[in-house]
Amino acid sequence: MSFFSFCCGRASWGERRRKDSTSWRIFSLKELSSATNNFNYDNKLGEGRFGSVYWGQLWDGSQIAVKRLKVWSHQAEQEFAVEIEVLGRVRHKNLLSLRGYCAEGKEHLIVYDYMPNLSLHSHLHGHYSAECILDWGRRMSTAIGSAEGIAYLHHQATPHIIHQDIKASNVLLDMDFQARLADFGFAKLIPDGATDATTDVKSNLGYLAPEYVSSGKASESSDVYSLGVLLLELVCGKRPVEKLSATMKLSITEWALPLARERKFNEIADPKLNGNYVEAELTRVVLVALFCAQNSPEKRPTVLEVVDLLKGASKEKLSKLENDDMFRPEPPEASQGASTPDKGSEDIAQETVP
Ligand SMILES: Nc1ncnc2c1ncn2[C@@H]1O[C@H](COP(=O)(O)OP(=O)(O)O)[C@@H](O)[C@H]1O
Ligand SMILES: [Mg+2]
Repeated sequence: MSFFSFCCGRASWGERRRKDSTSWRIFSLKELSSATNNFNYDNKLGEGRFGSVYWGQLWDGSQIAVKRLKVWSHQAEQEFAVEIEVLGRVRHKNLLSLRGYCAEGKEHLIVYDYMPNLSLHSHLHGHYSAECILDWGRRMSTAIGSAEGIAYLHHQATPHIIHQDIKASNVLLDMDFQARLADFGFAKLIPDGATDATTDVKSNLGYLAPEYVSSGKASESSDVYSLGVLLLELVCGKRPVEKLSATMKLSITEWALPLARERKFNEIADPKLNGNYVEAELTRVVLVALFCAQNSPEKRPTVLEVVDLLKGASKEKLSKLENDDMFRPEPPEASQGASTPDKGSEDIAQETVP
């Protein structure tokens, strides 16, 4: 994908011009085919649960990302346009807004601004992972920005939106490295069971709250759990679940919690940072992340509290969190009934690989 190298960190004239634009529209298939060179393989940015995403350029020079949905149900035809219009109206500095859509015949396409610095996933584990472009300052602003984007969805958007798919590949980075959450509310567009089950499980492995996995019902609180996993990933550079052997895997929370209890925060920090981070901020992010990714939904904070804590807005709240039973150095049995990662989190940690 040769265009990556010249796109990274730069923006075309068209993109700059559009930066603050709030307009969105219906695109024709012809326009999108021509922008993506007929959905050429070389233009492909990646493939997700719902289809492939292609880079493209419009007649005015602006760069776009086009998601071509692979699964579709005819019953959902009418809902598609309605839902897309609802999502299209959502505007926030940390959300990737829709530029429009195209629904012609069997083709269903969603158009977004192209994000020249790709995703958090590509920086932590993919294309850019060798370069460490994400220094501590950028990680901190991505952490706060992601939480602010979710806070907007949960508390300000009308109707309120549960993201349902918070993960590193859905945190995109714009030309100023500002976090832009993608695919919010997207799960609603696709009828249940219409996605490929294997990609489904794999793509958000480790991010889903246990009650969401067991009941299939997403909530604000299950979003907060996923945000917690994402925050830990951002700090330590590890994947949400690591394979220990052919049959055993370890979740990022189970790995980080004992270290946090022993106050060994420097061992949690991504070695790629080379020790270049603000210790107080790193400690804060780790504590907040683990607080979010607890198994009991009722013990998790709201995302508004997360934003405050990450910003260090209240010293009192932070010291309360630091002294929570969850972070006591004793073994977990000693803090029964308190906000500990309970038995369930151990279940997540040492699952058998399917
Ligand atoms: N607007 C965009 N700009 C740049 N890259 C994008 C954009 N939208 C999606 N991508 C990238 O395209 C790939 C596929 O996206 P998607 O279909 O949403 O799958 P997923 O997020 O599950 O990986 C991902 O790597 C994603 O980061
Ligand atoms: Mg995505």
